Amino acid sequence: MSRKIRIGALISGGGTNLQAIIDACETGNINGEVVFVGSDRAEAPGLERATRHGIPSFSVDYRAIIRRLKADPTSMSPPAGFDMGEVLSRQTIFAPVEGERAKGFFLSRAIAEAELLERMNRYEFDLLALAGFMRTLTPYFIDRVNRDSDLPRIINIHPSLLPAFPGTDGYGDTFRYGCKIGGCTVHFIDYGEDTGPIIGQRSFPITSEDTLESVREKGLAEEWELYPECIRLFAENRLEFAATEYTRSDGRRVRRTIVNIRNTSA
Ligand code: GAR
Repeated sequence: MSRKIRIGALISGGGTNLQAIIDACETGNINGEVVFVGSDRAEAPGLERATRHGIPSFSVDYRAIIRRLKADPTSMSPPAGFDMGEVLSRQTIFAPVEGERAKGFFLSRAIAEAELLERMNRYEFDLLALAGFMRTLTPYFIDRVNRDSDLPRIINIHPSLLPAFPGTDGYGDTFRYGCKIGGCTVHFIDYGEDTGPIIGQRSFPITSEDTLESVREKGLAEEWELYPECIRLFAENRLEFAATEYTRSDGRRVRRTIVNIRNTSA
């Protein structure tokens, strides 16, 4: 039996994935309800979708925070409980040599995230779904949402077949590389850039008739089915984590958490 889950969503843009999730909840395809929609931009067109469905929404102006800190790094203090050393030791986005750049990045993001958390925590939620949220989340935020580190509860949809083409333009990078297959991935968030445990993937062919625009269209059509499907698996408690360790073909030792999908609910 699946439990009714409360879903929080974060968006930055048009929110078509958010719409797919709301629709799946309304039709009963997901036993769940979207309880808030947050954004890093007050102008995100997707926020209107929340309003249309009577879902509370809010935004945190990331751009203003980043701009203010760039102009004067002493103008804002880190949020309570923020520990730069701890964040730097957990994150896997920046290389150690990028220390100074990383510090500026994490400070501004954590200040924005503290505001985001304050808004989000007004609601009870079981799952946080990133639906085209174009901001990197720091360990400061991730650890405050995943109160139990063994039970991650932030998921993301990414427009490529990960681990290929992480970053901000998955379909563009896939198309320009000359790939003949494109795809999308739903995964849990970890401390890296699009590196977390994969829940589901969909693929589609790319032919010589395709343009970047048509690749995006094909990809989004897959996303709108894949994301609700993966959220349904989460709601049905069918996602199981397994710790794996193996040696890659290049000799590197890899430790990784993977997701197995159970046939029936636990
Ligand atoms: C989607 O293609 C999603 O995969 C991508 O942004 C788009 C949002 O569309 N997300 C990322 O690139 C995350 N790194 P939407 O606002 O219409 O759902």
